[in-house]
Amino acid sequence: MNIQWYPGHMVKSKREIQESLKLIDVVIEILDSRIPESSKNPEVDSIIGNKPKIIVLNKCDLAEDSVTFEWIKYYKKVGINSIDVDSSTGKNINKIYNVVKETVKDKLDRRIEKGIIGRPIRALIIGIPNVGKSTFINKLTSKSSAKTGDKPGVTKSRQWIKVSNNFELLDTPGILWPKFDDKRIALHLAFTRAIKDEILDIEELALELIKEIGTLKPDAIIKRYNIEISSDPFETLKRIGSKRGCIISGGNIDITKASNIILEDYRTGKMGKISLEKPGEVE
Ligand code: G4P
Repeated sequence: MNIQWYPGHMVKSKREIQESLKLIDVVIEILDSRIPESSKNPEVDSIIGNKPKIIVLNKCDLAEDSVTFEWIKYYKKVGINSIDVDSSTGKNINKIYNVVKETVKDKLDRRIEKGIIGRPIRALIIGIPNVGKSTFINKLTSKSSAKTGDKPGVTKSRQWIKVSNNFELLDTPGILWPKFDDKRIALHLAFTRAIKDEILDIEELALELIKEIGTLKPDAIIKRYNIEISSDPFETLKRIGSKRGCIISGGNIDITKASNIILEDYRTGKMGKISLEKPGEVE
């Protein structure tokens, strides 16, 4: 589906992450709060082995607070510390260090016992493309531009970015690939733009989004576009197009334009906060 992730890239990316693990104390796995399951690489835990990990539920501004809270509870139950973050505004960014410190507490205690003091905690950021890795790093380090790492397989020199005297990050995040072979996962990745639009049929995607939001939170569509939802998603899409003046010659609806509108509205939160995945659905 996405040529960016051909097997050679995956292997190289995985190897780079495994090499970085030797240098760090903790992994910060970034997920999209709207789709924590789909934005996760299913192999991540086998890749990082027994390295301590925290989960950052990024883009929490776009997800429902109550659902995000459910995820945090779920992770706690399975022994993982997590925190909701909005990297655009910096919400909860200043709490990251405490979560990290708590997660590596045993290691820090052992260091103190051995008389090793003053060594900063070192972290590696990992996550799928577009999940917000660079934005997160920039916010955490108060920089305007972190190196972005969206070209898997391109080797870069590694540098430490100082967050504080006690906390440093590897400047190049580890890039993981999402899992595409499940249709629901692929759709969720596409709705949130983890998969680029150019390789997808926009109309098909918009119809699937209407179906899903129409089931999960129909009011979001009704209120945003001031329309009734039809049992036929194509009819709903046409109504959205009509309301938004997406008309082409002959008075027909410009379906592509209407599709782009609904997708963009979902992605930017204009339909409100909508979480697509809940922990109860996870096996
Ligand atoms: P990456 O390094 O993991 O690939 O992701 P990056 O930081 O480049 O972020 C991808 C997009 O997500 C950016 O939007 C960025 O502004 C947005 N983003 C990151 N964190 C948050 C967040 O917490 N909340 C919200 N609402 N947005 C966030 P972009 O530049 O507009 O890219 P695109 O969405 O047009 O691809």
